[in-house]
Amino acid sequence: MFFGQKIHPLNFDRAERFHLDGEAVKLSGPGMALRVGCETVMDGCCRLRFENGQVADSTQYSDAVRPAYRRGAVATPRLEADTARFVTAIGQIELQPTRLRVAMTEVMLETVADGIGCCGEALLLNFALTGVNGCYGLGERAGPLNKLGQTADFLNVDVVAVFRHTYARDDYDPTYVAIPLAILKVGERFLGVFFDNPHRVVMDVGKTRPGEFWYQAFGGVTDLYLLAGPTLREVTRRYAALTGRAPLPPLWALGYHQCRWGYRHEREFRALAEQFAAADVPVSALWYDIDYMDEYRLFSWDRLDFPDPAGLNRELKDAGIHAVTIVDPGVKREPGYPVYDSGREKAVFCQTASGREYVGKVWPGDTVFPDFSLPAARAWWAAYLADFLRDSAVDGVWLDMNDPATGYSRTEEMCFQHGQAPHERYHNQYAHFMALASRAACEQRDPDGRPFLLTRSACAGTQRYTAVWTGDNASNWDHLRMALPCSLNLSLSGIAFNGPDVGGFMDDTNAELLVRWHQACCLFPFFRNHSSRDSRFQEPWQFGPATLAAIRGAIRLRYRLLPYLYQCFFAHWRDGDPVIRPLLYHYDHPEYAHLGDQYLVGDALLVAPILHGEGQGPESIQRGVKYQERRIALPAGWWFDLNHGVWVQGGRVLHYAAAADELPLFARDGAVLPYYAGPLRNSFMHLSAIELHLFCHDQPAQFEYTLDDRETRRYEQGTWGLAQVTAEVREERTTVKIEESGDYPRETVRFTPVVYGHPEVRKLELTVNGRAEERKLRTEQREWLCRNLMVQA
Ligand code: GLC
Repeated sequence: MFFGQKIHPLNFDRAERFHLDGEAVKLSGPGMALRVGCETVMDGCCRLRFENGQVADSTQYSDAVRPAYRRGAVATPRLEADTARFVTAIGQIELQPTRLRVAMTEVMLETVADGIGCCGEALLLNFALTGVNGCYGLGERAGPLNKLGQTADFLNVDVVAVFRHTYARDDYDPTYVAIPLAILKVGERFLGVFFDNPHRVVMDVGKTRPGEFWYQAFGGVTDLYLLAGPTLREVTRRYAALTGRAPLPPLWALGYHQCRWGYRHEREFRALAEQFAAADVPVSALWYDIDYMDEYRLFSWDRLDFPDPAGLNRELKDAGIHAVTIVDPGVKREPGYPVYDSGREKAVFCQTASGREYVGKVWPGDTVFPDFSLPAARAWWAAYLADFLRDSAVDGVWLDMNDPATGYSRTEEMCFQHGQAPHERYHNQYAHFMALASRAACEQRDPDGRPFLLTRSACAGTQRYTAVWTGDNASNWDHLRMALPCSLNLSLSGIAFNGPDVGGFMDDTNAELLVRWHQACCLFPFFRNHSSRDSRFQEPWQFGPATLAAIRGAIRLRYRLLPYLYQCFFAHWRDGDPVIRPLLYHYDHPEYAHLGDQYLVGDALLVAPILHGEGQGPESIQRGVKYQERRIALPAGWWFDLNHGVWVQGGRVLHYAAAADELPLFARDGAVLPYYAGPLRNSFMHLSAIELHLFCHDQPAQFEYTLDDRETRRYEQGTWGLAQVTAEVREERTTVKIEESGDYPRETVRFTPVVYGHPEVRKLELTVNGRAEERKLRTEQREWLCRNLMVQA
């Protein structure tokens, strides 16, 4: 029986009194002492620091929070009879020996009686869930969107290794990623509680004891960040500001990626490029899994199978296909292998507590692990990786097995900082520091370019360095369904650039599942088809022409909408809004609190994919064509149905039937979708000509289109501009105004307005930077999934 073990609340010692201790309050009682300090960190965010007297080292070792916010304005406590009071930017915080109460302008958060305790090095905070009807975030998790009634373990693990017999279910816990952020919905308001502690922690959100929300940390210092709402958007933006937003990726990284564990010869890579071309499916990157290496030695190639990797990768790049290689942390423990010898000489590997080199068992056999918590180890790693990327003409880095996975060798003996720092301090941060070092390598290789990295494990803040994929899933419908809430919660937890293995990694996929997976995720931030060497091949053409046609429709749609996706990434970098969002990000409706089977891309597109196969759910046959059916919650207002090319009224639940090649997809009234109408050839896209697809029923449309070079990191210095688009459709006339501003040359993009769903429109009035432009509207077709919709262009 699986319990998800934690410490029973009755095993914690409680304080009986408190006194002032410098700028903090010290709670004490038999067997326990707890120091609590408070600071305002930024507008709408304050930090409560909990230092358990039993924890010998009271340093905060977490790297989650951006340096700018590690020091705040101290709130000095005022002691009254039985209460210490902190006045902060988010409201008043009252502390009693066993109770905490936070009174924010919009909501109240308080612990239950006896809600604060210590048990050895462990800390308990037990909050009352009064009025709470939703809980989101919690990083990467299996299970439903709303985590109320769930339990969560924050310990990075290699899921398939730990849950060998049950990984293919949708209820495993923990996962590869540990981000202890809970976003609580209290009535209609939201507030965020981020428990910054790199040690293993657990949360129980009303599962074991309904009405109670337990936070238990098994060691370390806990910084509790209170993030004010009142909306989900404000909480999410504040958390992103606190821990960092994803830097902009290169445009190619937003395209379609093809990967498989088992591609092992240059022939296969050439064949893949040809097959994609023959199938008329664009692809932006091919991925090298572990088989490219010489007996799994890091920074090496098997020269029999890949005699000239740089030549091969340049050849692929000439066709618009980038190369990404896997890089695991494990270094083969083999005297004479230069990477091992040099790391040993520089003492950059993890050690046991007594100072032996820590040895694990991974792909190369006996393996040692760089200690990424050491700056010297990161520099050593970055130098090797930068050389490898340069010499092999590789553009992207895939960081795997960094949970860290150590095979049959127990992980706990791995210590850090020459055996001096305990394993728990850096376990959940292992991948994070590996990503930091690897990003540095990419920047060394190309100082002005934008790195692309993908990782399996992560902790809070890792989004500053890399994208995340959700690890080894299985080719089944449960895992497809799980992919939506998982990626949505991960997005709310700061990791905006994420996605699952499309098609499923373990086990055999089938034609229908592969199609639905591509449709469901074709507008996810990260879009990669990946499978295990033991499973059936699942490239887009593997299941015949009808399946290929449906998959092609989904992939090509992504490329058509790449300018929009890119804008969503830019908006994330600027403001912290995730790329994909649950409906409750923008719409307030009790049903949306649980809605994990549809999502928004930015604020303009609503995606409601088919998530069940034939014979598993509602379906019908009309004129010989099979349709799968589902409910779609459509928020109030008008929406344009991009399958049928018609406006539908929202504020209701639709019963929708979608054929195999259809993805239910809606554009909001008032939306502007930047669309690429040019030829599709892998990652080659000239975004100097963009169509602005206008969806105006009752609403005028508005959009801020960011202008930048899409390649360099100059945007970080403010080299970008804005094209402010406003549009209105009135009877026969469409009026579009584009005003450019900011630090970027004017009119580098030619915008063409395209009008949907108004056949009576005849006239276009376009003004660009105050100058009227002559444009005639014509009736044309545009590609949407497998259809061509008539538009006025
Ligand atoms: C791990 C990764 C998987 C990869 C495999 C071989 O299982 O999660 O994506 O294909 O290792 O490298």
